[in-house]
Amino acid sequence: MAIERIIDTVIHDEDSDEQVIEVTLRPQTFDEYVGQDRLKKNLRLAIEAAKKRGEPIDHVLLYGPPGLGKTTMATVIANEMGKNIRVTAGPAIERAGDLASILTNLSDGDVLFIDEIHRLSRAVEEVLYSAMEDYKLDIVIGKGPAARSVRLDLPQFTVIGATTRTGSLAAPLRDRFGHIHRLEFYTPEEIQKIILRAATILESTIEPDAAKDLSTRARLTPRIANRLLKRVRDYADVNGDGIIDGTTTTKALEMLEIDELGLDPADRNLLASIIDNYGSNPVGLTTIAALTGDEATTIEDFYEPYLLQLGFIERTPRGRRVTPKAYRHLGRSAEG
Ligand SMILES: Nc1ncnc2c1ncn2[C@@H]1O[C@H](COP(=O)(O)OP(=O)(O)OP(=O)(O)O)[C@@H](O)[C@H]1O
Ligand SMILES: [Mg+2]
Repeated sequence: MAIERIIDTVIHDEDSDEQVIEVTLRPQTFDEYVGQDRLKKNLRLAIEAAKKRGEPIDHVLLYGPPGLGKTTMATVIANEMGKNIRVTAGPAIERAGDLASILTNLSDGDVLFIDEIHRLSRAVEEVLYSAMEDYKLDIVIGKGPAARSVRLDLPQFTVIGATTRTGSLAAPLRDRFGHIHRLEFYTPEEIQKIILRAATILESTIEPDAAKDLSTRARLTPRIANRLLKRVRDYADVNGDGIIDGTTTTKALEMLEIDELGLDPADRNLLASIIDNYGSNPVGLTTIAALTGDEATTIEDFYEPYLLQLGFIERTPRGRRVTPKAYRHLGRSAEG
């Protein structure tokens, strides 16, 4: 993507300021982790039971749009279990041997967090199945006719997998997870709590009406809430006395061209292009991608979930359709 969007849910630079702030703001316990109540309730129970039995908890798969707190939840689970977490990602484990060395270095009870687990190669996936199932590692030693397979015992560990798309996860892998949970968008009230908590950690003063205003513009996503808070704080530092009040917030968001529902110019452009070219008829994802110049997967994983959540587009068997609600938001009159 050419332009960086303020509402972008992805962090492009691992060493950036933003990455550092994310780590600072990351909740460490269930009590600090706002929202996702159903997920927390299930996991709390599983953790308590596992601790009683002196076993690791069953493997956990977390899925849902970026920035909703999957990585955060993985660290919380490890903390609540009182165990170490080892973090890796699908694309980083290139060969079965890479996985083997990660697995053999784990200790009993450790959590292995695999981000973007849908991007594991088939060969690696297969090694992972048996490791997850019975804590055994099958490896082949040697080549050709002399090759033989050996079975190693592994420590009892828990895999926590995260993915934005469960659809692309192979069924046998999905079946190895005892807990499969979808992370939901947060309510504005929860986002407001997250903003107030972050402001306290960042030692900023934010007035309640400003926090409320921000809470509906953050796409119901903690990562964006934290990012908007930072931008508004910068604005308040430069243009005022550093206190984030309603006026500063409105002005800062106007400058960023984020509207009251958290849509930015690119979202409005996406909706407007569909309307201009197809009205409210269904359009395929690749057509939308061609209209906006984005990758189809970018639209599907990053931008569409929130537009669906708002009810601005809907999925039909023949493609995506812009709804009357979106027409109204854009101030356009629905045709025919
Ligand atoms: N429930 C929560 N309560 C408070 N803050 C949260 C919560 N969930 C996420 N955050 C904040 O949002 C940031 C982004 O969350 P996180 O990195 O866990 O998202 P993610 O789902 O792993 O995203 P991605 O799909 O891009 O990896 C965290 O650094 C944290 O500060
Ligand atoms: Mg993550």
